[in-house]
Amino acid sequence: MRGLLVTGTDTGVGKTVVSAALLAAMGAEGEGVAAFKPAVSGLDEEPDGGWPADHELLGRETGQAPAEVAPYSFGPAVSPHLAAELGRIRIEPERVLALARAAGAQRTLVVEGVGGLLVPLTTTFSVCDLAVELGLPLVVVARPGLGTISHTLLTVLHARSRGLDVRGVILNRWPEPAGAMERSNRTTIERGAGVEVTTLTELHGPDPRALAAAGAALPWKSWLGGG
Ligand SMILES: Nc1ncnc2c1ncn2[C@@H]1O[C@H](COP(=O)(O)OP(=O)(O)OP(=O)(O)O)[C@@H](O)[C@H]1O
Ligand SMILES: [Mg+2]
Repeated sequence: MRGLLVTGTDTGVGKTVVSAALLAAMGAEGEGVAAFKPAVSGLDEEPDGGWPADHELLGRETGQAPAEVAPYSFGPAVSPHLAAELGRIRIEPERVLALARAAGAQRTLVVEGVGGLLVPLTTTFSVCDLAVELGLPLVVVARPGLGTISHTLLTVLHARSRGLDVRGVILNRWPEPAGAMERSNRTTIERGAGVEVTTLTELHGPDPRALAAAGAALPWKSWLGGG
């Protein structure tokens, strides 16, 4: 399957923004694209300053309905395994896998994870297990500032311990101009993880053209091609 799984060091780091930017840039270059997110939670929360819910924003970039992007959606802002338990719903890993594979059968698939890499979708099936089963390479979205070195290296090293191919790290909400700490974090992660670290700057909102421009600056062709 041609595609990427976008994971992150934490919830709220920018996986949806990066995924939407990648889909917009790929679409603009004529790639047939599909998005998938195994589960969305937190739909009870107030919308975040003009940014729509994950499955809605991703679906906007691909022409998919939100429910097609995310087969499970939950109100409470908690881990999917708990949200499902509270809603007396069973997340079925086999269903998640079948839907993701169907979405990516004919198109380049961008899967957005949920929270960080080890977030449980069920008590026995994590986002990391999903990446392993789908055989998709990873990109890791991380913060540019204090605390990011260890979170990012832990994520990359764990992914590799499971045999996953980490193609890139994206430091999101990169400040322009960047300070000495952010620049140092970038080279430290590059050296420690042995992976290319790129950046994505602050956007003013979910404008499709701004997302496409941000995505065009990311090396998605080499990430997809493995080069
Ligand atoms: N590059 C950016 N420019 C401007 N705002 C951003 C950017 N990246 C993230 N944000 C802000 O941070 C919020 C969280 O980002 P995003 O939804 O992409 O995180 P996430 O990792 O997908 O979170 P979740 O774990 O909930 O899926 C966005 O709704 C937006 O308000
Ligand atoms: Mg998200």
